Order: sequence, then structure tokens, then C-alpha cells
Amino acid sequence: MSNKIRLIVFLALYTTISVAQSVTPTKKADVFFNEPEIAHKVDSLLSIMTIDEKIGQTVLFTSGWDVTGPTVRDNVMEEIRSGRCGNIFNRHTVAATTKLQEIAVNETRLGIPLLFGYDVIHGHRTIFPISLGESASWDLEAIEEGARVAAREASASGLHWTFAPMVDISRDPRWGRISESAGEDPYLGSLIGAARVRGFQGDNLKDVTTVMACVKHFAAYGASQAGRDYHTVDMSERVLRETYLPPYKAALDAGAASVMTSFNEIDGVPASASTHLYTDILRKEWGFNGFVVTDYLAVNELIPHGVAKDKYQAAKLSINAGIDMDMEGGAFMENLKKLIENGEVTEEKLDEAAGYILAMKFRLGLFEDPFRYSNTKREKKEILSKENKEAAYQMAKKSFVLLKNDNQVLPLKKNQKIAVIGQLANSKRDMLGSWKATGSPKEAGTILKAITKKNGKKNTTFAKGYTFKPLDFDHYDNSGFEQAIKNAKDADVILLVAGEHWSWTGEATSRTNIHLPQIQKDLFQELAKLDKPMVVLMMNGRPIAIGDEVDASDAMLEIWYPGTEGGRAVADVIFGEYNPSGKLPATFPRNVGQIPIYHSMKNTGRPYTPGVSKGKYHSKYLFTKNTPLFQFGFGLSYTTFEYSDIKVSSNKVSANDNVTVSVTVKNTGDYDGAEVVQLYLQDVIGSVTRPVRELKGFKKTFIKKGKSATVEFTLSKDDLSFFRQDMSWGTEPGDFNVFVGGDSDAELKVSFELE
Ligand code: NOJ
Repeated sequence: MSNKIRLIVFLALYTTISVAQSVTPTKKADVFFNEPEIAHKVDSLLSIMTIDEKIGQTVLFTSGWDVTGPTVRDNVMEEIRSGRCGNIFNRHTVAATTKLQEIAVNETRLGIPLLFGYDVIHGHRTIFPISLGESASWDLEAIEEGARVAAREASASGLHWTFAPMVDISRDPRWGRISESAGEDPYLGSLIGAARVRGFQGDNLKDVTTVMACVKHFAAYGASQAGRDYHTVDMSERVLRETYLPPYKAALDAGAASVMTSFNEIDGVPASASTHLYTDILRKEWGFNGFVVTDYLAVNELIPHGVAKDKYQAAKLSINAGIDMDMEGGAFMENLKKLIENGEVTEEKLDEAAGYILAMKFRLGLFEDPFRYSNTKREKKEILSKENKEAAYQMAKKSFVLLKNDNQVLPLKKNQKIAVIGQLANSKRDMLGSWKATGSPKEAGTILKAITKKNGKKNTTFAKGYTFKPLDFDHYDNSGFEQAIKNAKDADVILLVAGEHWSWTGEATSRTNIHLPQIQKDLFQELAKLDKPMVVLMMNGRPIAIGDEVDASDAMLEIWYPGTEGGRAVADVIFGEYNPSGKLPATFPRNVGQIPIYHSMKNTGRPYTPGVSKGKYHSKYLFTKNTPLFQFGFGLSYTTFEYSDIKVSSNKVSANDNVTVSVTVKNTGDYDGAEVVQLYLQDVIGSVTRPVRELKGFKKTFIKKGKSATVEFTLSKDDLSFFRQDMSWGTEPGDFNVFVGGDSDAELKVSFELE
């Protein structure tokens, strides 16, 4: 179509829009959107679109630059040109996105702009710590800022949309995607999910420095059986609503523009065909007015799931369940027209799906200027800017969790002889973790480099010790031990960097054990024999069972995969220029058999209390304790904090009163430091069983050495509410216990009664 004709079409379109704006909202307008202006525009546009053009808007294809799922097609240019594909992912940079946008705008009949999406999970080019690591900071402002930086970089690269945040609760470290999550807790996960959405989207999607968020994976993807990715999920409606749904809801309440389906089935229905999830809960109950995209090929996967015999049926189930956009599978593209012709899908349903998507394109301002994200000057300035790297560096420091520090081995004095050992200490790629977006290993500083820089070359040695073969967990080559042991003998301190290869974390990386490879376990023991102070840095994307290794070390710092600026952040903490304050967002089990293990478990009818419970018949294991290796919320500091003086505003409250709990926290050690003060609540008796304790508040509080702070929490009616036996949300009268402290084993307690 020539530009001239296209212009005429556009003029016609905008005339329709302005006419529509001057009259009362029409049919779909008030049904679909709360924003009449957008609704009118969408309505007008839909009215001049053919069925094929509308279907094109429901199609999302990968351009193939990154491989984030099975590859099913080669060239998307033709699909864009023909209007069969209205949205693209896995393509970035201004140059590359502009090229495709030009095809959509100049070569299709209506010139409807493309949406460009990408997995910007923990940074776009400047890579931040993996999401589980960021979550360990319990610092919502820093997390929001991390998403903000990612949005600035991504949008400067021509992108409009990130497939984040992932807010799936996970209580199973076998599942590799726990690394992408905020961990095990719905309260913490909700606040983090909302913070990320605010960071990505800012106040206004029209701001070109923001990107649309996509809350994923709806729903309960993190609860796959046996931690095997994509596996079956089966849970009660109560558990779904109590534990798994809150973070999705919180992220949507923060304004997230889109939702992604999950691969799993739930209650026998694959999510991508679930009317219960998408129509009943998402649209009707929660009033969501963004659009829903499937996960990669998830419509087609309704066939192997066994609920559709072909793509035709799969597309029908999916769109009728309330799914608006089909990622990669082509099932909508190939079948919707026929389904409409055959009366199995209504054209209204298609209008609804395409309408939700077009509405976002209007909100982003793409119809006003499809090239508003195509600014090479901005791209150059924004990518890896000093400011962005600084934010990643600050975030990395905040994400580290000090797990052990006997005899205050840490922080280290400079200019001692340090033997840095472990392949991970000198790996750039591993610093970035999984889902590194456009992050480049070349741009990441290593731990070795940063330590050497601070400690001097002559005082710092390096030996690999162990090596990885990523696809062989049992790879065993101890030829590096000799050098490592020699270096260790010559040193004052051993600094061992251990953990998982980055490719063992993220999507499709489930494990049936969660310990370290034998080669690393043996190296730990060899080094421990030398009787030198041994400091260990752990790089891993899941809680791991490292009891033996904790015993063999004097100090241990969990650093996850800390990102582009992680190296210098590590060096700062090791040498005491920054006092670690991270707390675990997920429980670390003693061994894989304890899974699932999390802080908000139920008491059972036969609880076991060591030293108190007598006899055999208790809920416990034969040869392992019930308690974890490290509890949720745990993390040490170079200083110490003492809690005292817990008070509640009233010992008797009524349902509509807020309850205030205060506590005094004193920094009793030798360093200034920040403490995440945590509040846990127990509803003692309910019409249904309640967890032994639930996180209901936290405040990260900086306290100078020798000083005290009073920390106050307010518990609202909502905090005391739960899904009662009849599934209504509300409170029940009775006793509540409140525990406040530095982790989920907090003992300082106060009680009150709800009348
Ligand atoms: C599959 C993953 O499950 C999802 O999280 C991701 O956004 C898509 N692939 C797109 O890459």
C-alpha cells in the first residue's frame, strides 16, 4: 500500500476516533476499559480492521536473536509484512527494532505498530544480581530502582515490554527457576513484585523511558511437582489463594500492563486454557484490563497436555478461556478465522483480545509515533551508563547474605596473603547468572580481579581448584587440587569461591539433589585440613544443602550471581568497606528430602519439639532434624543486634482497630550496620489451621554502632485476615502472637486478643 493510501486510512481512522470521542461511549468501550478515550480509539480502529488484521494483533513471534524456547520458524519478516504478526520478541537495539517497525508501519495496510518484548529480568545490559539475590536485600527502593534502570536501558534499545516480574512463589529449590523468583514468601514476594512493576512502568507508560511489565507465570508455576520444570501442579483453592495468588495480585494492583500464562496445569486444567484463572479470577474478580499473553508455545502445548487434539482445538480453548496473545505457536494465527467462521469463537471474543492489545499500543503512544523508542543518541547514552552501573553495584552489595562468620574472620585486613581458589572466582560469565538479557560477560568484573585490585598482586594468588562441565554434574578432575593446596599453604587466608555453574539455574534446570558437585565437596575438605582461616563465597541460584561445607568454613557469604558490578561489590564486603545486611528470601534445607520446607508451615497434630517431645509418634524424620540449615530471613552482619522491649498498643483489639507493635533494636557490635527487622504473626486458633507464623512486616533499619532504634509496625485488619473455612476473607476473634526479630526464628514475643 502506498503512503498516500495509508494516510487516507489513518485520517479516516482518526476522524472516526474524534467523532467517537464526542459521543457517549459505545458498545465495547465501557465493557473493556475504564479509560473512555482509549476505548474509543480502540473501538474505532477495530471497526476498520479485517478479521485477519485483528488476528495479527494477537500473534507474538520471536525474531530468533535469543533462543528462549524451541525454535519453530525462521523468518518473521514476511509474517510482519503480511500483517499476520503484530508483535515481536527477542529483538533489540534501535537499529534492529526500527527496521522491523518500518515494515509494520510502512508496508501493512493500516500501519499498526509492532510491540517489542524481551526478557529483561535483572537488568538489560547493566546486569543486576539475579532476582533471588535482589530479593535478599529486602530493600524495596533498591529493587524498584533496579527495575527502573533496566527499563531505561531496555526502552533505549527500542523495547516496549519486558517479560517480568516473575512473581511465582517457590518453595522447592530443585526447581531452577527459583533463581528468578523472590523466594518462598507471599508477603515479601508481593511487595517485591509491586516494586518491580513500579520500577519498570514508572507513573505513565507514555514516558519513553519506561516499559510495560508482564506479571508471570499465572498461576502457581513455582509449585511444580518434585521441582521438575513444566510439571503438574495440584493444590487446593485455599493454598492457591493464600500463598500463590497474592504476589500476582499485588503486581497487578501496582498497575502491571500484562500477564503471562504458566506452562503447568492446575487442578487438571493447563493454565493456558483455564477459564477459572483468566476469566473468573483475573478479569471478573480482579478487574484486570491489560492483556494476557501465553508463555512460549503454551497454546500448542495443550495438545501434549491432553486437552486438545490439534492446534484448532487448542486455540479455541485458549482464546475462550480469556487469553489474548499467542506467543510463538501460531495456533491463533492459523485457526482463529476458521473458528469464527465455524461459530466456535465469536468475533467479539477476537475484538476483545485484539482490543486489549491495541489499547496498550495506544497507551504507549505508538500510534502517535511508532518510532518514539528509536533514538540512537539516547541508546548510546543510556546503555551501561555510569549511573546504571552504580545502581547495580549498590544493589549487589545489598544482596549478599552473611551465613557464617566465626571469630569475626570477616572482614579481612588488606595486604595479607590471600589464596583465591575456584573457577567461579575468575569467571565473567557466571557473574551474570541466567537470563542475562543483553548483558555481556566482557563487561563484568570478576571477583579475582576486584580482590587483587584491593589486596595487591603480590599478596593475591589464584588457582582454579575445580572445573565445571556444565552438562556433567559428576565431572571430576582433581588435577587442580595440588596448586590450590600449595597456594593455600602459602597464604594467610583462603578465599574459596564455590557453587553452581550459571547454566544450572533458570528455566529447565531442575535438579534432584541440591548439594555441591563432589569435586567441590572434596576440595572443601582438603582445604579445611590446612587449618587456615577459610572464607567461602557461594554463587548459586537456589537454596543449596551445604551443611558439610558450612562446617568446613570459618566464614561464608552468599553472593548469588551478583551481576556486572558484582566483583567490586564482593571486594568491598570482604574488606569491610560495606557491612552485609542481606537476609535469605528462601529457606536453605539440610538436604533435599526436607523439601518443601519453609517458615510458615503448619503445626500438625503431632508437632515435634526437640528435647520436649517424648516417644516415637511425632511429625519428624528418623535421621535428620526438622529444622533447616538456614531459616528464612536469616543473615548475619559484621555487627550484632539485640532486640528488647517489645510492646503492643493494646492487648485487646477489635476487628477494625489497627494494632501497633514496637521494639527496640540496639547495635551492640563494632560496626555501623543495617538490620532487617522482621515481624511474624501467629493466629493461634482458627476455623482452619493457620501457619506457625507468617511474615507480616519488615523494616530495614540502619543503626550506628552503640545506638538503638525503636522500630514500629502497624498491623491492619487485612494483616489479621485469612480465608476462613467458608473461603470468605476476614478475621476471626481469638489470640494472636507476634514475634519480632532478625529472622523467622524470632523469639521476642507479645500477644493480643482480637475481640
Ligand atoms: C519461556 C519462559 O517460561 C518465560 O518466562 C519467558 O518470558 C518466555 N520463554 C519468553 O522468552
